Amino acid sequence: MPKYTRYYAWLLLVAISCNNQVEPVKQEKDLQQFTETAAQLSGIAQQALLKEVSAAIQKGGTEYAVEFCSQKALALTDSVSKAHDLVITRITNKPRNAANVLKTAMDSAVWQRFEQAMAKKDSIPPGITGTEAKGALAYYKPIVIGMPTCLKCHGDPDKDIEAGTLKKLKEIYPDDKALNYTAGMLRGLWKITAAGAEPE
Ligand code: HEC
Repeated sequence: MPKYTRYYAWLLLVAISCNNQVEPVKQEKDLQQFTETAAQLSGIAQQALLKEVSAAIQKGGTEYAVEFCSQKALALTDSVSKAHDLVITRITNKPRNAANVLKTAMDSAVWQRFEQAMAKKDSIPPGITGTEAKGALAYYKPIVIGMPTCLKCHGDPDKDIEAGTLKKLKEIYPDDKALNYTAGMLRGLWKITAAGAEPE
């Protein structure tokens, strides 16, 4: 046991001396600044996406909007991200597009926190900033089934989704898991990281 105690004491020393190289105040400021920018950006992305989806449905109906979502959803977030040197993605436990699945340990931990808060009807934090295993900051904001429009593509396939829309969804996403949601459920998270940051 004493052998290990010494080992840990040594590790702690290394950890402390490494930490000292980074000014704590600066770190805190960076964290605050990152969180502020990320919160703003996820708000903008959310609004832009809602506007574009609604406009696409009005223009060509839900089936047309599916194609729009599959082609434009990522491009839209891309352009917002580039302007700020941040990367914005959408992630979820039940993805329509497999690329959007929860990936890191932090992703899953934050997902659980939001889900538990919602299940207990606690107040839901507007966003959470976490640190990935390799130290990269990540900001998460919940995406909720917040309006009936969402159900036209994510609701009950027998009741909420038009036959043509369902057919199109199956065509583009044969492994679609993003169905059978009801109003108010947690559908996904906006995840924002610094460009070039390693995920884990
Ligand atoms: C017209 C159909 C349509 C509507 C309406 C729609 N979505 Fe989607 N949604 C899609 C498609 C298609 C994708 C897959 C996009 C892609 O390939 O990246 C998607 C993906 C997502 C994702 C990313 C995770 C995943 O499953 O791949 C989230 C989060 C999401 N939608 C939330 C919402 C919310 C919230 C609403 C309501 C405000 C909504 N969607 C309305 C079609 C729709």
